[in-house]
Amino acid sequence: MNLNNIQTQFTKMMGLKYPIIEAPMFLVSNVEMVVAASEAGALGTLPSLNYRPPEEFKKALVKIKEQTQKPIGVNLIVNKSNKRYPTDLKSSLDCGVECFITSLGNPKVTIKEAHKNGAKVFCDVTNLEHALKVQDMGADAVIAVCSGAGGHAGPLSPFSLIPWLKQKLDIPVIAAGGIADGRTLLASLALGAEAVSIGTRFIASTEAKVNQEYKQAIVDSNPEDIVMTEKVSGTPAAVINTDFVKKQGLKLNPVTKFLKNNPTTKKFVVPLIHLAGMKALEKAATNMSWKSVWSAGQSVGLVDDIKGCEEIIYQIVNDYHELKKGLPDEN
Ligand SMILES: Cc1cc2nc3c(=O)[nH]c(=O)nc-3n(C[C@H](O)[C@H](O)[C@H](O)COP(=O)(O)O)c2cc1C
Repeated sequence: MNLNNIQTQFTKMMGLKYPIIEAPMFLVSNVEMVVAASEAGALGTLPSLNYRPPEEFKKALVKIKEQTQKPIGVNLIVNKSNKRYPTDLKSSLDCGVECFITSLGNPKVTIKEAHKNGAKVFCDVTNLEHALKVQDMGADAVIAVCSGAGGHAGPLSPFSLIPWLKQKLDIPVIAAGGIADGRTLLASLALGAEAVSIGTRFIASTEAKVNQEYKQAIVDSNPEDIVMTEKVSGTPAAVINTDFVKKQGLKLNPVTKFLKNNPTTKKFVVPLIHLAGMKALEKAATNMSWKSVWSAGQSVGLVDDIKGCEEIIYQIVNDYHELKKGLPDEN
């Protein structure tokens, strides 16, 4: 397709045609999605934890690198509970991964090791304090995770968080949360972002290996169907309010909550909540059952069809150009 590029500080840094990251999504992102997104001129990424055991992750990277020479990214959970972190970092560096997206925990080691390899590091942040910290550590950009995002959304509206970070930081800001079409891309760049990171839209892609009912639920849902539940990880996470989620409730029960906050029991209870939540997500994403816990953000309201990642990207870019032409004149 013959589309004009959209050049920003971010695309220049990464050598991309478009300032779009296909965001890493637990249980959803896979080799096919990353290859399709990167080949289309965006940046395909995936969480290392989608491939288990770690050897499978390395094999996935080799497969990706056989199919595209374009930049790709890996998401690493950099907190202490992720025991695979050093192995996955090494596999990524060995395979020549061009960038890392870090979430949870301290990204210092990733930044140091990635920079030795010439790779970039983008850190998920939800406020200025954390953004300044990662900037000081040497991060190459921050991903401003705003309210409405899929996964662990931040509390702030994109209207406050993106311009605020843009004003206070020297490194580029990437917008995440609620972006799914040309209009939201255009708005994000107008707010001061140098790129966008899009998750939910790509769940409804032909390449995603989740079940058809999950994809269809993304198409059928409205922003008002998205609720925040503590049942997945202990921290509020965005899910579609299915009958099962309604029945289960959104809050941890008081005993679990007490044990989770108690300094002596915390380290045993938090991993158990995670395990139970992840098992529920995995079941719902891969097998159809009435126990549906489908992770998604408020941009479901902008998703009307299931199509290939390349087509999704081209549509966003095409609509961006059309809308930009249609903005009011100065006179
Ligand atoms: C199903 C799903 C799984 C996600 N898993 C991860 C993950 O493993 N690591 C991560 O850093 N972010 C994860 N996220 C957050 C995305 O990377 C991204 O920040 C978010 O989807 C952007 O908001 P949007 O869904 O409104 O586009 C996930 C989001 C979704 C919807």
